Amino acid sequence: MDKASVKLAPSILAADFARLGEQVAEAERAGADRIHVDVMDGHFVHNISMGAPIVHSLRRVTNLQLEIHMMITDPDFFLDEFVKAGSDSFLVHWEGNNNLHRTVQRIKSLGKRAGVAINPATPAVALEQILPDVDQILVMTVNPGFGHQRFIDSTVPKIRRVRHMIAAVKPECELEVDGGIDEATAPLTVAAGANVLVAGSSIFGNGLEVCCAMQRLRQAIGDGPR
Ligand code: DX5
Ligand code: ZN
Repeated sequence: MDKASVKLAPSILAADFARLGEQVAEAERAGADRIHVDVMDGHFVHNISMGAPIVHSLRRVTNLQLEIHMMITDPDFFLDEFVKAGSDSFLVHWEGNNNLHRTVQRIKSLGKRAGVAINPATPAVALEQILPDVDQILVMTVNPGFGHQRFIDSTVPKIRRVRHMIAAVKPECELEVDGGIDEATAPLTVAAGANVLVAGSSIFGNGLEVCCAMQRLRQAIGDGPR
């Protein structure tokens, strides 16, 4: 993977919600590629996070793309609301969706980028049929639902496998990783073929300025400061 082309997607789950606008602005100034918004409903995962009103507020304070990670049982039901709020792309899970193809087509018909996410226990081969239809694949490197979790090492060979599938079928498709991404784990995922790194606690939750935290991540993957 060309290290200079690796993109950072700060996840606001770890941000200080009382200063959310400020923190997103800092990430934008520091060269974030997009903002990752984790939406959880307490059913698909055992946590509740945020909904479309947050996207609506963020839309007014940033020009960055807003990428919505839907960890909810019925993503289709909420798509219109999130599009209206100003979302640019959606990551929907393979798990629990009996009509994934339909969900992906709906996202595209709304004029938005579509991505499919797989959990740590879901094999790469599950993506075979849907890959030609999507703009992004998200390999979860922790079980979804919470920030600050430990990176699951066994996901690394899967990232490599997904990279090979993408190269063979749809080279322009992005390969994103999410969960436990920090200075130690980011290089492993990039070496395996990831080109978009979601990072929550290592950007917003480690006591560093957002720009320093992002710079450290970049340096860890061998990409110079910006
Ligand atoms: C977890 C979320 C992640 C989370 C990552 O379910 O999908 O996006 O914010 O947080 P860290 O980077 O702290 O693991
Ligand atoms: Zn996420």
